[in-house]
Formats: sequence, structure tokens, C-alpha cells
Amino acid sequence: MCGIVGYYGKQDQVLDTLVSGLKRLEYRGYDSAGVAIINKDQEFTCIKEVGKIKNLENKINNQNIPEFKGIGIAHTRWATHGVPSVENAHPHSGQDQKIFLVHNGIIENYQEIKDKLTNEGVTFYSQTDTEVLAKLIEFNYTGDLKEAVLKSLEVVQGAYATVVLAKNEPDRLIAVKKGSPMVLGLNGDEYILGSDVSAIISKTREVIYLEDGEMIDINNGQYSVCNLDNQSLDKDIHNIDWDEDAASKEGYEHFLIKEILEQPKVIKDSVRGRLLPDTGDIKFGGLIDVMDKIKEVNRVIILGIGTSFYSAKLGELYFESIANIPAKAEMSPEFRYNDAVIDDKTWVIAISQSGETADTIAGIEEAKRKGALVTGIVNSVGSPIARITDAGVYNQIGPEISVASTKAFTSQATLLLMHAILLGRTRGLGYTQAEELISEIKKLPEYFEKVALLRGETKELASKYINYDNLVYVGRKYNYPIALEGALKIKEVSYVHAEGLSAGEFKHGFIALIDEKMPTIAILTKDSVYDKMVSNVEEIRARNGKIIAIASEGDERVESISEDVIYVPRSTKEEIQPLINNMALQLLAYNFAHGRGLDVDKPRNLAKSVTVE
Ligand code: M6R
Repeated sequence: MCGIVGYYGKQDQVLDTLVSGLKRLEYRGYDSAGVAIINKDQEFTCIKEVGKIKNLENKINNQNIPEFKGIGIAHTRWATHGVPSVENAHPHSGQDQKIFLVHNGIIENYQEIKDKLTNEGVTFYSQTDTEVLAKLIEFNYTGDLKEAVLKSLEVVQGAYATVVLAKNEPDRLIAVKKGSPMVLGLNGDEYILGSDVSAIISKTREVIYLEDGEMIDINNGQYSVCNLDNQSLDKDIHNIDWDEDAASKEGYEHFLIKEILEQPKVIKDSVRGRLLPDTGDIKFGGLIDVMDKIKEVNRVIILGIGTSFYSAKLGELYFESIANIPAKAEMSPEFRYNDAVIDDKTWVIAISQSGETADTIAGIEEAKRKGALVTGIVNSVGSPIARITDAGVYNQIGPEISVASTKAFTSQATLLLMHAILLGRTRGLGYTQAEELISEIKKLPEYFEKVALLRGETKELASKYINYDNLVYVGRKYNYPIALEGALKIKEVSYVHAEGLSAGEFKHGFIALIDEKMPTIAILTKDSVYDKMVSNVEEIRARNGKIIAIASEGDERVESISEDVIYVPRSTKEEIQPLINNMALQLLAYNFAHGRGLDVDKPRNLAKSVTVE
């Protein structure tokens, strides 16, 4: 949430690096954006604009900028305090514009600090908490930026990743992290700071991940790291193993459709080397060190939010049926306050694409405090969740750029299924059952190739229902989480009101809303609850409800009870089928949003990484 870029290096690289870094981070927030650079005569030029980065870029291109130095900061915003406006956009400055900063996070005690500074005669121009931080640092500034930042942070409560410049020290850039992410890229005499590595990879693969309570001081071409007590720290330099092309659209119109259609490939990457069909086992290199603990657990909790929570819901079913162990999916924003019963025999698996979600981080910390084993399933390499968990498994699906999560869900659910097999094999799961599941996991790419062919059909279907403003998704058992995820996906990208329900829950209230204006997307593929689903669908039809069915290839019966049918390939394992069904719903959501002419990759009000509570 909010993207930060900082640059120190070559004059001719400053604006390009800042703006291209912001474009890479735009999925983190896109309400408004801004840059600040220092001119040769040691004054700041700050340019800000409402809306997407391209608006800022146009403004920069149309402005006559005085000659400037090789240092600057930039920000793309997802509003927390104050509406999206030029005044509220970052960078923010101190009272006399001696310092400028960009910030990601929330300063919780901003009002208290603001009141004190107001009494000291400081004037505020925005509604943001960030301006308070800027004004405070400048208030404490007596010629040494590091000193001013350290002094100011003594009174600041909340979360921040911030990069600060001072006009009187035009060869210096300070960055601090607490709660929100920050990475430093090293490229010879150039330094690039970013909220995540995507802002950096076009320049370098060498990075330093900042931990909470750490500060980077880049001063006269040298960098040093210290803690907030000003004690020096030695930091490891990591190498990012990332293909830059993976973060580009590669000819597709949108990231969303690219990410949906690349699932046959990425799911192979996600499971590569981890399936051992000969012995019916699963091998996760990242869990080897904690396997002894895993064998001892008597309970599993799977933690996540949004799409990651819905994959956790599938995981809950997998663990109970395959590993025969009590399992529960927990929504991280609730879990952190719920006094959950956890002990050292609990295995908490935290799911997060970004690895940055604030609520999930808080849940992990709570679980660790209570003695649980906490592992992760994370996509973003080196992200905060990957680093604070005891051990974990990476999705290995490449960057997911579109705000709506698609391939990450598929990989998360597949990896959870594999976690359940891994644990199951230590708790009585037989070779034959494990091997059958493994061989169906291996077939996922084939199934996804077939679903990809439904692109045209889902487009036609979307155009038929494009003017409907209410939809309901129903499924049962393994397809109940898919109903929830299908509804979330279409809501996010199409702004259509959609609800996901268990088909069994339907007649306990929701059915009152059914009429010809509220179509039902029924996930009706063949599985152990198929007959129950058919009965539930009949109940909806008896109330004039229109049914759009997701059905198994060859199931002609479904045609007689549905208005429209999308046929998907059938897996021999009902644990695998929801992943196939979900991809068809992803295509439907994409086509619905695209048909409505919406910005499918950056839906309004959303951000890809939710780094505040
Ligand atoms: O990065 P995370 O997986 O922790 O993100 C969790 C949710 O914010 C995320 O899944 C969100 O619901 C997506 N926009 C869903 O498409």
C-alpha cells in the first residue's frame, strides 16, 4: 500500500529511475503521485498530481525544471488520511521546505504531534499523517538530517517506511523502516530505494532488505545502516533471482488476462521438484528444518485475508480430509484480536501473495508469541512475511502485478493441498491415495490449458449479463471457497455487487433476493455433493432465478436446469476440481470488467499490498 522510490546517483538517471520505479509500484496504490528533486541551487522542485502515474509523468514533461542534482524521492499513494488531492499527495515538506519526505504507513499519534507543532506556530496544508512527520523532522532539524530523523522517531508511534531529503545536505538521503517494507538496491555508485524489489530490478539484482527499526544513511556516495539507537549494523546483500520480463505484459492487453492465462506454466513452476510420485511424498526444501516439529502438531491454522483467505478455506478442507487433523482457516484481521487458542502443538500457515499484508503480519506475531510453529506460503521473495516466519515455501509463480489475485490463488491452494499430503503421510495417509492426488496435481497444467480455451465463451457470456448489477455465486464443499473467491473477483474488477454462498445456506435467507434480475453462478461440477447442488439449483429456479452453471464436460443434465453452461474439464479428484472451476470464473470476471470498459488491472479504491491495518 503506497509505493516509495528513492534515488541517489547520476543526474541524468534521477527522473527516469523515479518515474519508472513508480510505474512498477503502481499496483500498490494509484490515487495520486509525486516526486521531489533538489536543484543545483539547493532548492526543491516538487511535482505532484492526482490519479495514475501517467498524469504525473505528463505534468513533469510539461514543466520547465531547473537544473537538478542526482538525488530524488517519489511516491504513489493509496489514501488513508485525506482524500486523493494534490495537497495530500506526497512528497510532503517541513515548514520552510528545508526537508521533503515520502512515507508509507500510518503515524498513529499524528494528531497529538500536530497539535504540539501547531502550538509552536507550524502550519499544515494537508489532512495527512505524513505531513506531520515531515513537519516534525524539519522542526527538529539543526543541520544533521540523521540526527533530526532519529530524534523525531523517538516520539512517533505507528508504521512507516520513509525516505527523507534535506536541501542543506544535498548529497544525503535517509531511509527508515518500521512496519512497512523497504529495500535498498546497490548498483555501484547508484543507490535505489523501493517499497519492493520491482522498483529496483531494472537497475540491479543486489539488494539489502531493511528490517524494522533500521535506518539507511546514504551520504556523499557511501551508505551505512544503523538502528534507531544509532548503532551500526552489518547487513547481508542478497541477489534477486527474478526475470524482469515476468513483470511485463508480454503482448497481452492487461496483466490480469496474462496472469490468468499463464497458469498452465506457472503452476508447473510452483510444484516443480516438490512432487515425489514414486513414494507418494512431497518435498518442500523450505520446510526441511521444521519437519520434526510438523510431525508433532495436533492442529493447523491457516491465516490469510481476501483471496489468500479463500485459498486458506480450501486448505482447511484439505488438511481435515487428507491429513485427518483439525484445521481452521482464519481471517487475519480478525484472528489478531480473537484470543485464538494456540500452543506449541499448533502449526500456523500464513498465506500471502505480497508477503506484506499488515494484518497477516500481526497474526503471525501473535501466533509466534503463543509458541506456535509458523510457516509461510508467500510469493514475494524476501518480503516481510517470508522473513518473519520460522520457515516456508515460495509460490514461485513470478510477480503478480494485477491488483486482483489470480495465479497466486491457484498456487496457494495447490501448495496447501501439497502441505496436507506432506502432513498426511506422517499421519496414516496411504501411498495410493497420496499418489493419486499427486498425479492429478501434475495434470493441472493440462486442465488449465483447456480452461484457457474458454476465453471466447466466457466473453460471450459476460456480454450477455453485462448489465446485471447483482450476481450470486454458489458452491458446496470444495467449491464453496470458489464461490467466495469467484464473487470477490468479479466485485473487485467489475464493481458488480456479487455474493458468494454455500448453496446449502441459500434457502436460509438469501433466497428472498432471488428474482429474474439476480442471476446465480452455480458451480455444479461432478463431485460428492453434485446431487445436493442440483437440488439447491432447482430451488433457485423455482423462484425464477436464472442459473449460469459451471459444469463438467459431458454433463448434459445441467443444460436442462440452466440458462447458460460453461463446461470445464473434469478431474478424477474432487480436491483438484475447484482449481479448474476457479480459472473459468477468473476468465468470466476479466471479461465482465473488460466489457464494462474498466481498468481491470487497477480497480478503483484498491491496492495490491495492504500494509496498513
Ligand atoms: O498479498 P496478500 O495475499 O496477503 O493479499 C491479501 C489480500 O489483500 C488480497 O488477496 C486481495 O483480496 C486481492 N485484491 C484479491 O484479488
